[in-house]
Amino acid sequence: MIFSTKKAHIEEEKCDLLVVGLYTDEIPTDEFTYINEATEGLLSDVLKEEGVKGKAGEMSLVRTSEWLDAKRVLVIGLGKQEKCTQESIREASATAHKVAKRLAAKTICFAPLGVDSEKVKARTSAKAITEGFILGGYVFSKYKKEKKPSKVSDISIVVESLRDVKQIEKGIEDGKIYAEATMYARDLVNEPAEHLRPLDLVERAKEIVKGKKDLKIKIFDEAKLKSMKAGGILSIAKGSDHPPFMVHMIYKPEKAKKRIALVGKAVTFDSGGLSLKPSGSMETMKMDMAGSASVLGVFSRIVALNPNVEVHGIFAACENMPGPNAIKPGDVVHAMNKKTIEILNTDAEGRVTLADALTYATKQKPDLIIDLATLTGACVVALGEEVAGVMSNHPKQTNDLLDAAYEAGEKMWQLPLEPRYNKLIESKIADVKNIGGRYGGALTAGLFLQMFVGDTPWIHIDIAGPSFAERPLNAYTEYGGSGFAVRTLIEYLRSI
Ligand code: BES
Ligand code: ZN
Ligand code: ZN
Repeated sequence: MIFSTKKAHIEEEKCDLLVVGLYTDEIPTDEFTYINEATEGLLSDVLKEEGVKGKAGEMSLVRTSEWLDAKRVLVIGLGKQEKCTQESIREASATAHKVAKRLAAKTICFAPLGVDSEKVKARTSAKAITEGFILGGYVFSKYKKEKKPSKVSDISIVVESLRDVKQIEKGIEDGKIYAEATMYARDLVNEPAEHLRPLDLVERAKEIVKGKKDLKIKIFDEAKLKSMKAGGILSIAKGSDHPPFMVHMIYKPEKAKKRIALVGKAVTFDSGGLSLKPSGSMETMKMDMAGSASVLGVFSRIVALNPNVEVHGIFAACENMPGPNAIKPGDVVHAMNKKTIEILNTDAEGRVTLADALTYATKQKPDLIIDLATLTGACVVALGEEVAGVMSNHPKQTNDLLDAAYEAGEKMWQLPLEPRYNKLIESKIADVKNIGGRYGGALTAGLFLQMFVGDTPWIHIDIAGPSFAERPLNAYTEYGGSGFAVRTLIEYLRSI
């Protein structure tokens, strides 16, 4: 698929499908007016007939080959003009891709969507069109005999001014980076656990770093983890035949303003361990490495992204299995920061592995740690399947992150790190236990993690809900791994 832009009259373009936006405000965009006039009012007639007013999600497909060089025009609803955001554009563009697929269209022309309001600039519009279009076409077809690839080959965004052409070119490049990084993470999450073991995650990280001068990697195998006394990750890995690893990727541009550590939960399969999950709950547990997938997704495009910050990507990978050497409820383990953890439920494994990954991250002396973890079912109970929970010891950074999430179209909501609930994770025999009470499970998990970050500014994102879409999250996120948080992280890194 090739994206491009040009200065031209949209109604004169030759293509299989021409996409133009419609607001509910009844003030048509210039492009709509040109096309409508060139088709002698066909568009407005059809819209009237079909009762299409321009609400988000509405659309109308009109055959125009008698009047134009474009075979068909897709009029797509963007809602109220003043409320039109990047997200409306992404969804509209993803929908256009689905229509194009159905029609087996090869060439698509877009009018720049959403630029009529002050809020959305040409570059942003092009970014959102590109991002939504690519992500809207994503399918994980690796294990399908019949792959049904999209036939779309050329997508061009047609504008009237030369100045916009430059901005649109930049926007297209932005959109590609966001989408490709997200799809990298989606592919990892969708990969069955038997094909993506801890060692495979290490291999992916190596591939990403290979041949790039701004990227470095450190890999810690089981022996090395033992010498580092990383008892958290080691203890959870004991029930599996696949050995654990810790991976540390470093992106270091010349004049970095800040140092950010991204830490991802990397449990390649979560059976629950001896506290075995019921089979239904295990069905999607190949996704329990989604945090690390998002970190790898960001790193897969970080050189092209070129943010002015030093970024450290860290994950401790293991598999949580009930093998003969598995950790047992009641065991006490020594985490890397010397704190002792009483393991009362082996299914609360993520926090135990993260304890070491976070300890290691603090040693890099970052200005901020962001961890991403499919940590608790409780967070899904609290916020549903589409919204991630955010907990932090640093309000300013959290606001910036939440702003980035909004821009990226990813739903996140802050939950409190309520110190009163620390009593719920007090252990009778160790420094902390790995489960809280019946209530507030997302918060007690957050409080547990806090014990391993010391004073380092830190944001924890519980992505258990949205990381794996059991049903579509939006027009550009269908069933399966969503690559959640990749776009927020990119947005955040660029905002620094
Ligand atoms: N990986 C799960 C959390 C999870 C649940 C992710 C649903 C995605 C969807 C985690 O390791 C886990 O099992 N947590 C337990 C904690 C409990 C034992 C305190 C949970 O949430 O049930
Ligand atoms: Zn678990
Ligand atoms: Zn887990």
